[in-house]
Amino acid sequence: MNLCVIGTGYVGLVTGAVFSDLGYTVYCADTDGSKIDMLNCGKMPIYEPGLEEVVERNTQDGRLFFSTDIGDCISRSEIVFIAVGTPPGADGYADLGAVKAVAKTVAQNLNSYKVVVNKSTVPVGTADIVREIIIENRVDPQVDFDVVSNPEFLREGNAITDTLKPDRIVIGASCQSAAMKLVELYAPLERPMVVTDVRSAEVIKYASNSFLATKISFINAIANICELAGADVHKVAKGIGLDARIGTAFLNAGLGWGGSCFGKDTACFIATAEKLGYDFALLKSVVDINSQQPAFFVKKINSVLRGLEGKKIAVLGLAFKPNTDDLRDGKSIEIMAQLSALGAEIRAYDPIAMDNARKAYPDVDYCVDPYQAAANADAIVIVTEWNEFKFLDFDRLKKTMRAPVIFDGRNMFDPDRIRSKGFEYHCVGRAAKDRE
Ligand code: UDX
Repeated sequence: MNLCVIGTGYVGLVTGAVFSDLGYTVYCADTDGSKIDMLNCGKMPIYEPGLEEVVERNTQDGRLFFSTDIGDCISRSEIVFIAVGTPPGADGYADLGAVKAVAKTVAQNLNSYKVVVNKSTVPVGTADIVREIIIENRVDPQVDFDVVSNPEFLREGNAITDTLKPDRIVIGASCQSAAMKLVELYAPLERPMVVTDVRSAEVIKYASNSFLATKISFINAIANICELAGADVHKVAKGIGLDARIGTAFLNAGLGWGGSCFGKDTACFIATAEKLGYDFALLKSVVDINSQQPAFFVKKINSVLRGLEGKKIAVLGLAFKPNTDDLRDGKSIEIMAQLSALGAEIRAYDPIAMDNARKAYPDVDYCVDPYQAAANADAIVIVTEWNEFKFLDFDRLKKTMRAPVIFDGRNMFDPDRIRSKGFEYHCVGRAAKDRE
């Protein structure tokens, strides 16, 4: 079976690469010639653990191709995945311009029956729009097609694993034959499948991300209460998470969620509900709680250090989460801006995301390692819980810092362990015993 994936971003490139690894012939297309050139030279336009090996193996075996000729890729394929960006518009609703353009190109290259798959995250009702565009623009009205919703649930930094071993595969189709095409395609993964109607599949994606965001904002709200109550949110999260109906995942309190998805998808879901006539007050609160976390943390830093004018702060972690170079909607930029606004001098380090950070924020002092960032610093502020920070040489840090103070925005350390090393340690939702 020949597949075409249009859009070689986090979702399209990983999806195409994994499908080729399953033995299918995959044509990955993108209008961005620089991305396609990179891929044809064996270079990855994104940082994703394990991706390079999968791409290299399958391009060498002649199953994976990259091209800017979208029409040609479509005409060669039975299944066409639309995996282009759907960025938020001014009102938060998804901008479907790229999806609509691809739908038109599909229509213009509909040389045989095809299953057109919305892999991009698109608001409920988009499959109908795609269908209409193809009907209006197809070259031969006799050639049939179906539009299917197949949302992705990939976490950046885990995208290959999440594609190979998804908790579930969601297939939304208006006819059994189209659904079975996708069931057959995904069969080698041997993972649970949810086959449903198109609109339900479209809602599943937003409901899934919104619920995950809700869990995070909920535990952050509990963390804020714990700070006031002298309780420990880490223990509270354990105590509630062991209830199978709640679950332990996504109950890590901290600076809140970032990334290219949660913010975009919650905003779009709120706007979608609005268009449908429902005020999604719950999700609005989830977003509000999340937006307040950085300011709460900066306020704590400012209070503990008794002002930030002239203070040297080492920010460790810039990516929106570990194992990615992606800064989008990350908390680091917001926190560095707030600390600078209060007069602090910032030095920053990230194991992977610094190249992207330099391009986007050139006037930050980037350091080669955490120790250079911490040299002569009044405090370390941990924004991203990179694994390498777990192995910091605290004795060395203590010698180089002006004062041994750590603000851990991701609760990545055991407070007693850090305090036993002579550090003053502050985090989120766990009462600070250093200063009453
Ligand atoms: C998310 C969804 O998990 C994925 O299914 C969807 O397809 C895309 O959006 P991603 O944005 O890559 O994936 O990252 P994820 O691992 O979900 O983390 C999102 C944000 O939540 C990060 O900023 C992370 O730091 C934060 N987070 C996560 C918390 O603050 N607490 C947690 O307990 C978990």
